[in-house]
Amino acid sequence: MSREDIQQLVLTTLDRDGKIADSQYLGVPDQLELLGVLNSLASSEIVSYEPIDREVWLLTEEGREVAENGSHEAKVFHAVPQGDAGMPIAELQKLLGPIAKVGQGQAFKNKWIGKRDGNLVRLVDSIDDTTRTDLCTIRDTASHPDAALLQQLRRRKLCDKQKVTTYAVSKGPQFTLEVKKPATELTAEMLQSGEWKSLTFKKFNFDAEGLPPNGGYLHPLMKVREEFRQIFFEMGFTEMPSNRFVESSFWNFDALFQPQQHPARDLQDTFFLKDPAMTSDFPPAYLDKVRTVHSKGGFGSIGYGSDWKIEEAEKLLLRTHTTAVSANMLYLLAQQPQFKPVKYFSIDRVFRNETVDATHLAEFHQVEGVIADRNLTLGHLIGFMEQFFRKMGIENIVFKPTYNPYTEPSMEIFSYHEGLGKWVEVGNSGMFRPEMLLPMGLDPDVRVIAWGLSLERPTMIKYGIDNIRDLVGHKIDLELIQSNPICR
Ligand code: PHE
Repeated sequence: MSREDIQQLVLTTLDRDGKIADSQYLGVPDQLELLGVLNSLASSEIVSYEPIDREVWLLTEEGREVAENGSHEAKVFHAVPQGDAGMPIAELQKLLGPIAKVGQGQAFKNKWIGKRDGNLVRLVDSIDDTTRTDLCTIRDTASHPDAALLQQLRRRKLCDKQKVTTYAVSKGPQFTLEVKKPATELTAEMLQSGEWKSLTFKKFNFDAEGLPPNGGYLHPLMKVREEFRQIFFEMGFTEMPSNRFVESSFWNFDALFQPQQHPARDLQDTFFLKDPAMTSDFPPAYLDKVRTVHSKGGFGSIGYGSDWKIEEAEKLLLRTHTTAVSANMLYLLAQQPQFKPVKYFSIDRVFRNETVDATHLAEFHQVEGVIADRNLTLGHLIGFMEQFFRKMGIENIVFKPTYNPYTEPSMEIFSYHEGLGKWVEVGNSGMFRPEMLLPMGLDPDVRVIAWGLSLERPTMIKYGIDNIRDLVGHKIDLELIQSNPICR
């Protein structure tokens, strides 16, 4: 029966009889299918309905067999011959098979048969197979007046009860024999033409579960970031608060003993802010020490020997490296009454005024780690780097001396990339200079090893992406974002 057939049957029956008292007599084989039709008619107020719940009794397969051919006990009775001789039990077994045992028990109970000289004999001339008649009643009426008997037959696994729901249906305020498909959406055209006035609209179904949302995927960069974070956490690091994209030149450069004439401070390399362009919110005592170490030297250093201008330090910029965050955190650490060793990391965005090409963007992510403890050496840095990169799956790294204004010694880290067939730079590292640490107020024997790398480079290598614009920006392939697994 199709949905249309069911709908037609419901509507014509209502039209003829005024109501459907119980849908069980409607002749629709599947009440669930009927419910679907009733729901849709009810949403347009064409009908209304109430469920009727009831218990019905149904025969099991064995019960149907008994209703058809008689009970096991009746079969036993008929198998035992008339007369005093009777029949041996073994022979009954042979004749009736597995039902002989149950049938025999019940026939004994009914006093239909008995035992004489080891043989089974009839005790009555004829029997009334009530089990069969009762099962026929259940089969035909789905119930039986004798509730105790129903339970008893159920225990014998001849019948069982089931819950069924049928429906009482009546006409709704919009009752009609011709159901128009209701409009689902109000459109601009309907409003313009005035058609909306005569249309019936489908009711919103607020109980619908809706489609599962197709979203919430992590960008590959964020997946790799998560991997790095786990490595840092595993190694006992604490994450630095890195949400300040706008920094002062003071924290981005001066605190790091980067000279004010350094080319990195050029408009060509750094994005400076126009509005607001400046900040003067610095710790005054520390500011003085930074000024001194730059211009006059101190702490065993001769400084840069040139004027240090506060205006230069006040300039706001988009931070060019997360080492600005590390500087700020180390300053705060130095303000603690008692020094305690720390391991810090951050993974966040930095900005550089670079020409955008296949491997460079004006913004990227830096992974940065900092370890501060008394008497750390270059050996600690090398050993630690080997361990850190091994956890990322990068073995056999080599170090090459380099220059950073804020570290001495400084080392670039290279790893041989089998796929590319060449050595690639995987990071930059070093030990922060005394000119940076001592003005902060850290104890003279406190050494800080630090390193930084981009998040984009390992991500591109791991995912086999050779153009950064396939990874970041409006040209990325969403499919790639959704399907790429986390990978190390
Ligand atoms: N700040 C450096 C860069 O931008 C990375 C670095 C961090 C180097 C810490 C040494 C120590 O490349």
